[in-house]
Amino acid sequence: MAVFITGGAGFIGSAFIRAWAQWYPAETVINFDKLTYAGNLDNVAAVAHHPTYCFVRGDICDAEALRAALPDGCDAVVHFAAESHVDRSILSAREFIMTNVLGTQVLLDVAREKGVKRFLHISTDEVGGSIPEGQLFAEDSPLAPSSPYAASKAAAEHLVRAAVHTFGLNAVITRTSNNYGPYQFPEKLIPLALTNALEDRPIPVYGDGRQVRDWIHVDDHCTALRMVLEKGRPGATYHIGGRAPLENRTVLTMLLELLGKPMSLLTEVTDRPGHDRRYAVDCSRIERELGWRPQIPFAEGLAQTITWYREHRDWVARARSGEYRRYYAQMYGALCRC
Ligand code: NAD
Ligand code: TYD
Repeated sequence: MAVFITGGAGFIGSAFIRAWAQWYPAETVINFDKLTYAGNLDNVAAVAHHPTYCFVRGDICDAEALRAALPDGCDAVVHFAAESHVDRSILSAREFIMTNVLGTQVLLDVAREKGVKRFLHISTDEVGGSIPEGQLFAEDSPLAPSSPYAASKAAAEHLVRAAVHTFGLNAVITRTSNNYGPYQFPEKLIPLALTNALEDRPIPVYGDGRQVRDWIHVDDHCTALRMVLEKGRPGATYHIGGRAPLENRTVLTMLLELLGKPMSLLTEVTDRPGHDRRYAVDCSRIERELGWRPQIPFAEGLAQTITWYREHRDWVARARSGEYRRYYAQMYGALCRC
């Protein structure tokens, strides 16, 4: 199966590409990524020289670039590319609307033109907004996004469903909870707290730190995506969660204990405006229909993630500085295209 991945230099997209290369070493993978601050070709260095892998630097808002890169009759598009950080969307929503909304529509249009056989759209549990204690967000629950990021992802989902309904596109949507694991840009809670703690720097705790997120290891998420891509019902939506709902303070306490660092690093700061209190996804559909369940317990996955960040301080420094972008521009230049 030839797959066209958008956002494959980011955290989850790159994990999917690395896993795909293990699952299907002979299958073609095209990684189409703009290389924003969050895109890092170091994340896919392990597959960069595979004969079946190719990287194209491009923007999903650019229909011509997509037409040039997406093969006719491609077996599948897996759409990860997005602006993904809530705090940045609060500072400025423009790029979120451009990439997450307009970019998704441009990609859908080109996918249709090119006769793409299957379209997997990666969404988020945040489109459901904050979920009251005792309730779960199910696939058919109403969407109630509350941050500009979540609103842009909800809009993207509507566009995918419109393409299914109007044009018969063979698309499936997944909504996942908070991912963690290696190669995550150190702006999200776990990698930010971890990298700060390793340098004995304070860890910002927004508000009272009692907000609840459901944590899933990125490798468990990728396994679920493969199942949905291969066996999910056309037009359906599947929730993917880690079955590890935890308060932020609990996550941070576990992290500091595993690192052997003092709790005094936790520093309460002003809360995020409009901060969603609780996310909680109902994952019974994917478990029932496709037989998927998360395999990596949170404590184990967190310990493994800590080890990875301890051993990859050079990656952290390069990711923070954007140095890899200059390096790849110099070393590869045009070779970064197919
Ligand atoms: P990320 O920010 O790590 O990576 C995003 C990637 O998309 C980067 O490589 C970036 O260069 C690329 N990109 C951004 N704009 C682009 C554009 N206009 N054209 C082409 N490429 C572009 O994100 P992530 O954490 O890997 O998330 C991947 C997907 O999963 C996103 O759609 C996100 O909304 C969704 N998601 C993430 C999480 C999470 O916990 N990280 C949870 C739920 C859903
Ligand atoms: P984040 O990783 O940004 O994911 P999301 O907002 O998409 O769930 O944040 C996870 C939780 O951690 C969220 O409740 C906000 C909180 N948080 C902090 O308390 N401190 C931080 O420095 C960050 C980045 C997040």
